[in-house]
Amino acid sequence: MCGIVGGIIKGDIGSLLIDSLELLEYRGYDSAGITLMTDQSELNTIKTTGKINLLKQKYLQSNTKSGSIGIAHTRWATHGSPHETNAHPICSDDIISMVHNGIIENANELKESLSEQYTFMSETDSEVIAHLFRANIDQYKDPVLALRHTSLKLDGSYATAILSRNHPHKLFFSNFHSPLVIAITDHGHYIASDHLALLHLSNQFIYLKPHQHGYITLNSIHIFGQDGRPINPKIEVVNIVPPTIKRKPSEHFMLKEIYEQPNVIKQQIEQHTTHWNPLIEEQLHHIKHILIIGCGSSYNAGLTARYWIEACSQVSVQVEIASELRYRQAYHKTDTLIITLSQSGETADTISAFASLKKSNPQLTSICITNNNHSTLTRMSDFTIITPAGPEVGVASTKAHLSALFCLYQLAAKLNHAQAGQDTLDDPTQLHINLKQTLALHGNIKQCALQISQYNHVLFIGRHLCYPTVIEASLKLKEVSYIHAEAYAGGELKHGPLALIDANVVTIALLAKDHLYDKMISNINEIIARNGPVFIYTNTHTDPFENNALVNTIRIPSCQNDLLPFIAAVALQLLAYETALARGCHIDQPRNLAKCVTVE
Ligand code: G6P
Repeated sequence: MCGIVGGIIKGDIGSLLIDSLELLEYRGYDSAGITLMTDQSELNTIKTTGKINLLKQKYLQSNTKSGSIGIAHTRWATHGSPHETNAHPICSDDIISMVHNGIIENANELKESLSEQYTFMSETDSEVIAHLFRANIDQYKDPVLALRHTSLKLDGSYATAILSRNHPHKLFFSNFHSPLVIAITDHGHYIASDHLALLHLSNQFIYLKPHQHGYITLNSIHIFGQDGRPINPKIEVVNIVPPTIKRKPSEHFMLKEIYEQPNVIKQQIEQHTTHWNPLIEEQLHHIKHILIIGCGSSYNAGLTARYWIEACSQVSVQVEIASELRYRQAYHKTDTLIITLSQSGETADTISAFASLKKSNPQLTSICITNNNHSTLTRMSDFTIITPAGPEVGVASTKAHLSALFCLYQLAAKLNHAQAGQDTLDDPTQLHINLKQTLALHGNIKQCALQISQYNHVLFIGRHLCYPTVIEASLKLKEVSYIHAEAYAGGELKHGPLALIDANVVTIALLAKDHLYDKMISNINEIIARNGPVFIYTNTHTDPFENNALVNTIRIPSCQNDLLPFIAAVALQLLAYETALARGCHIDQPRNLAKCVTVE
């Protein structure tokens, strides 16, 4: 989703900002732009649709490359098409230049009152901020007061970075429910929507809280709260090595990240006893209900966890899509533990759902499972469990998803131990080896993908733990290959999806050697009887469909059933990847999707 970088330094900042913008590419975007302020306080803006390298070319060809203050942006279209006019920075004549992440929900209303005075050039909701700030500067004569009054008028979510040609040595910012971080360096100050964009420049950061606004200069930082009072910021030293988010030129990030999974899980297995906050374990003794909230793959991880937790404890589990829970009037018992799942820790729907839950149930304890230690959800939660997946660049989550899934498995095991003094879930200590064996099937899976890529409709089926696993597999396939895919519980086939089955719809069945094996075999037979081709992914050794021309069986490494979701996830990620590759899709940045969804 949209990304902001900006800064004020000694020397020219243009190419540094474009480099940092490239580090935000992973979020997903469709246009990009930069404004530099010259020594004569002129605002020079360059914008382009498409990729950042196009912006870079335009910048290098321009005559106005100098400037020590600047703002830059990658835009993921929400209001208005991905056109150059709608790309940010958005200007109010040559007076104000502004970049915005988020959505201004009352933009139309504000536009009505501002359009007598200002000409709106874009279709964006963001443009109101530029004009409103300018109008407020005229009215209040003080840019900080103007910024505060601008923020007070905005409904929705926003992070902004703003330049005003009449205040040449200041870079203004404001935020509400959209992340913004300031980096301190020995050559000046930067601002960005993600510290990943600035880690190569600094390890000292200030993570802004909602409703804060202010400005940075070359030598100072000024932050104010909603009431206008100055805030003494907390500087956090982040001791992480700038991540290598580079890959071999021939490789996609998605494939690189799929292949990193055995090591991520190995690390988690090794940290099992050391990495967990004992206070979390203490919580597990008392809780009776768990409410898991997430979106996309994170939600799917929650669905899988429900089966594990229910199987090994007396705790009831509810799994909710954040964007739905947010607007429901659900009742929650006092001994409920809230678990938010979010690889980015910045998903607007999850944050809003959690914020409103906390407001109405302040007594409930919360744990956030995330791949981002410095995220909004981390700050909002009582406890955080960090997944050690490292930065994930591919928009379709693979290693961060699997790592969160493993955290949930460990949590279920700890719950089992805390409440029943037992260890009934299957031992996962060899899981990383099974995952390596799964990667060794890449060639076979590729052959299968070449066939799947010929279809326009794919039906996934599974039962018990295989059901949420195929929900995630179907999401992955549609995200990266753009094939229409749906996932059903095997038992639901007869309640609708069977009507779709013919030779043109391919079914992918995940078959476990578990208590529902025979029922799944019946479901597969129901499909074959209707001439539907089937690919079976299974951890069993028997093959009841051995000579059936409609059936292909792919044997995934043999494993205990509790661990099958991990093995199958990796096999089906490879299937999605290879299918997308065969169809020539934009694998790492699928059309219309974003990695970090900071708008509702
Ligand atoms: C986007 C990503 C998905 C992710 C979902 C939830 O849609 O493309 O891969 O599962 O957001 O993101 P979160 O950061 O909350 O896990």
